[in-house]
Amino acid sequence: ALLSPGEKPLAGRRAVVTAGPTHEPIDPVRYIANRSSGRQGFAIAEALAGLGADVTLVAGPVSLADPPGVSTVHVERAEEMLAAVRAALPVDIAVMVAAVADWRVESDTPQKIKKREGEAVPSLTLAENPDILKTIATGTPRPAFVAGFAAETEHVIEHARAKLARKGADLIVANDVSAEGGAMGGVRNTVHLVDANGTQSWPEMSKAEIAARLAEVIAKRLDAPTT
Ligand code: CTP
Ligand code: CA
Repeated sequence: ALLSPGEKPLAGRRAVVTAGPTHEPIDPVRYIANRSSGRQGFAIAEALAGLGADVTLVAGPVSLADPPGVSTVHVERAEEMLAAVRAALPVDIAVMVAAVADWRVESDTPQKIKKREGEAVPSLTLAENPDILKTIATGTPRPAFVAGFAAETEHVIEHARAKLARKGADLIVANDVSAEGGAMGGVRNTVHLVDANGTQSWPEMSKAEIAARLAEVIAKRLDAPTT
């Protein structure tokens, strides 16, 4: 059954949400980034707050206004995002929506790298970034409910199920980003909820609607006795 308007089932609960890309500096004027508008994560933070949760949103660089009723922390790099998420603990709910860069440049230079005629082009050595979702889902204090997202271009459900196990999450929200007019940057999305009970596919809807429905799913899960 749908919640009636004004119900606050998440009152007294704390939540942390990550959103947007991360930027990993190469030098002071260049970076490596992922494609992400931040829209879905911002909408989820706002929806959780709408149900009464005390929400910290940890946002990578995006061109969106801070959502109302949410405490927003702005970060740039994955390591800063992890530190900001840790600083928000303990929480009941963690929803990791950010498109975190999997790698950072091992040694970003303090000076701008210059083009030099006749010289070899620079090559970058990469280092692996921390997996924020996995760190939070397998760390202490562990939030009661941890959800992640998975943007896939093929074998969407299979890959999402593998991520559920590998990262120790309670739920993976999977979407196919290869689809025509896909989710990346858009306002609509088609998602599949993958958890221990199976897979539930939702029809295409706006990111705001997905956020509202997901917040309700999370509220119900926190109420339900653990099985
Ligand atoms: N994630 C994270 N920290 C990272 C990488 C990913 O918190 N360093 C989170 C994302 O926010 C998302 C989930 O993990 O909720 C899945 O991200 P994804 O990039 O799909 O998973 P990866 O494990 O990085 O696998 P791959 O990119 O190879 O598909
Ligand atoms: Ca990744």
